[in-house]
Amino acid sequence: MNPIDVKRSPESPAALKTVAVIGAGTMGNGICQVFAQNGHGVRLIDAQAPSLERALKTIGGSIEKLEKKEALPAGSKDAVLARIQTGTDLSAARDADWVVEAVFEDLEVKRSIFTELDRIMPAHAVLASNTSSISITEIAAFTKRPSQVIGMHFMNPVPLMKLVEIIRGLQTSDETYRATEQLARELGKVPVEVNDYPGFVANRILLPMINEACFALMEGVASRESIDTVMKLGMNHPMGPLALADFIGLDICLDILRVLHEGLGDPKYRPCPLLVKMVKAGYLGRKSGKGFYDYPQS
Ligand code: CAA
Repeated sequence: MNPIDVKRSPESPAALKTVAVIGAGTMGNGICQVFAQNGHGVRLIDAQAPSLERALKTIGGSIEKLEKKEALPAGSKDAVLARIQTGTDLSAARDADWVVEAVFEDLEVKRSIFTELDRIMPAHAVLASNTSSISITEIAAFTKRPSQVIGMHFMNPVPLMKLVEIIRGLQTSDETYRATEQLARELGKVPVEVNDYPGFVANRILLPMINEACFALMEGVASRESIDTVMKLGMNHPMGPLALADFIGLDICLDILRVLHEGLGDPKYRPCPLLVKMVKAGYLGRKSGKGFYDYPQS
């Protein structure tokens, strides 16, 4: 069946009924929240039950903030949470119309997830990945429906950030692209079409900036605060590059730089030795309590 046959109707733009989100980490829970806020039933699936519990708490907290700001009507929390079902087994995605995979960036893990989703999900379902660095073409090749595999790269924090990079793999069909673009708009996001190249667009431009900030710090050009202040006040960035690296996770920044370095073969993408050393020390940014800055863990 063609992916354009996904259950939609003009009177109900959210008529694409059920969405599955695989992975309940920071990106997965944000993606789940955005779908549920926009009227979709969501199956949130993660092999670790405690991650699912944490995800529901995070989503509840985020909705409360949005309610306070009147970005969502009062009383939204219960309605949104009621649309989310959790599960620890991929089989919970078997009757979904659309899936967004947001697990950690490991090709073998993605291979096993996409092979299984392809086997169990309805023929019309689109399989999207939120990967920030793995080739969509390669992921699509794990399935027997490569024309229905696409990248939906959301930005962190997902409930606040408008952009979704939509990445076409080599075999992604125009129908799949158009359905994905329409879905992103229905979620209140701004889709941008991107082809499948290492780092796509966002990370190809963002990570070299973060890497250069690490080199500037390592070489003693300026303190961490000065580097961040230059970019915040001089370029109007909401966060300086070192604070942003802590927010993203230093391990994730390093992984993406390696993908750029290997995939594009240009030494200009070589990861800064200071970044490599910090990841080796377990300084991963906010999530570990220490990165370029310290984050007291509550
Ligand atoms: N849900 C709801 N509200 C949230 C939220 C969430 N998840 N996270 C933050 N907020 C709210 C805060 O409560 C706060 O509300 P008030 O204004 O009412 O106090 C507001 O957003 C602003 O937050 P903060 O005061 O904590 O801090 P801030 O003004 O610096 O904003 C930010 C936070 C939106 C994250 C902003 O700093 C920002 O835009 N930073 C850059 C983010 C960015 O670049 N993201 C892309 C990362 S790269 C990526 O994602 C791709 C990849 O593959 C690596």
